[in-house]
Amino acid sequence: ERVALDAADLEIGGHDTYLHKEIFEQPESLARMLSGRLDERFATARLDGLGIDPRELRGFKRVKAIGCGSAYYVGQMGASMIEDLARIPADAEAASEFRYRNPIIEPDTLYVAVSQSGETADTLFAVREIQRKGGRVVGLVNVVGSTIARQCDGGIYLHAGPEISVASTKVLTHMAVGFAMLALTLGRVRDLSYADGARIIAGLKSLPEQVQQVLDTDDEIAGAAASLVGAESLFFVGRVRGYPVAREGAQKLKEITYQHAEAYQTSELKHGPLALISTSMPTVAVVPNDELVDRNIGALQEISARGGRVLALTHEGVNLDGLDVQRINVPDGEVELQVVLLTVALQLLAYHVATQLGRDIDRPRNLAKSVTVE
Ligand code: G6P
Repeated sequence: ERVALDAADLEIGGHDTYLHKEIFEQPESLARMLSGRLDERFATARLDGLGIDPRELRGFKRVKAIGCGSAYYVGQMGASMIEDLARIPADAEAASEFRYRNPIIEPDTLYVAVSQSGETADTLFAVREIQRKGGRVVGLVNVVGSTIARQCDGGIYLHAGPEISVASTKVLTHMAVGFAMLALTLGRVRDLSYADGARIIAGLKSLPEQVQQVLDTDDEIAGAAASLVGAESLFFVGRVRGYPVAREGAQKLKEITYQHAEAYQTSELKHGPLALISTSMPTVAVVPNDELVDRNIGALQEISARGGRVLALTHEGVNLDGLDVQRINVPDGEVELQVVLLTVALQLLAYHVATQLGRDIDRPRNLAKSVTVE
């Protein structure tokens, strides 16, 4: 008797959903993305696809990332990396808004279009608007030969492989790593030292193994997720580099669990939303081992003192003794790259809340994988 197998069954392997498969593929797919792109001799990245020579690269005075949804949030992570490593002013904007506010296009700004599918209409039209006004746009795109990839003046392919699940996971870490390589390249034609470049290269090389370490804490994250199931609303908070991580964490939770979540800058909580903190409103706090750790801990105290439950996503060295918070430790690493590992942990968190609620993980209601209309 023949066993009927369709291609999709084969492809999904031992996983229950594509989302799960794609989250767990990341160590391998990231290693593949990095291979051949790190130049250890000169402590920089090899990004031939950008098509911009070093002298021109040095001339950019600003970087602006544009993208939609999760791609926009990773653009914010990327902007921080560029400011940290290259010391060029950088920010990110939702491509869906950009075109409608008659944006000022500067010839010495490097625009970066960020897109998994390469087909998002809002992002594509923003790229064309920039180009019409003489701006230079490079793409951080996953799908090879897609419309945005072809429209851009060069770019970095993400090489994450196909992403089937509607909610994006593996491609997001690839986007963040793409930005890290871009930031390294921009930094090394400016003031980033050889030693700092080498430090980032070593950090990037450790990422696949560190992502695996996050995946190995899956059971622990599933346990933490149980305490969030059914909450009417949640806060996701973070500061500076951690803020876009919080935004993406809230987005992932909303997309696949249908629970409401709001991302906030930890520092801004006290300027209003602290009024919402109660026993029924849990907070997921991004608390990396960085220069803001003491201030972040202070904010956790404020939340606990008002009866709010806190799940802290943090690093082993961070001392939360005496605080009534639940913690998940992710591996540490170079401060500029911590967002990658924190993001993976929040992917697992959303996945487990959604699974415990019995949601349709790969096909959340009302969403499409790529939105090709305005
Ligand atoms: C849609 C998807 C989001 C995605 C966004 C950008 O809205 O539902 O998950 O982040 O498009 O997609 P892109 O393919 O441009 O990265």
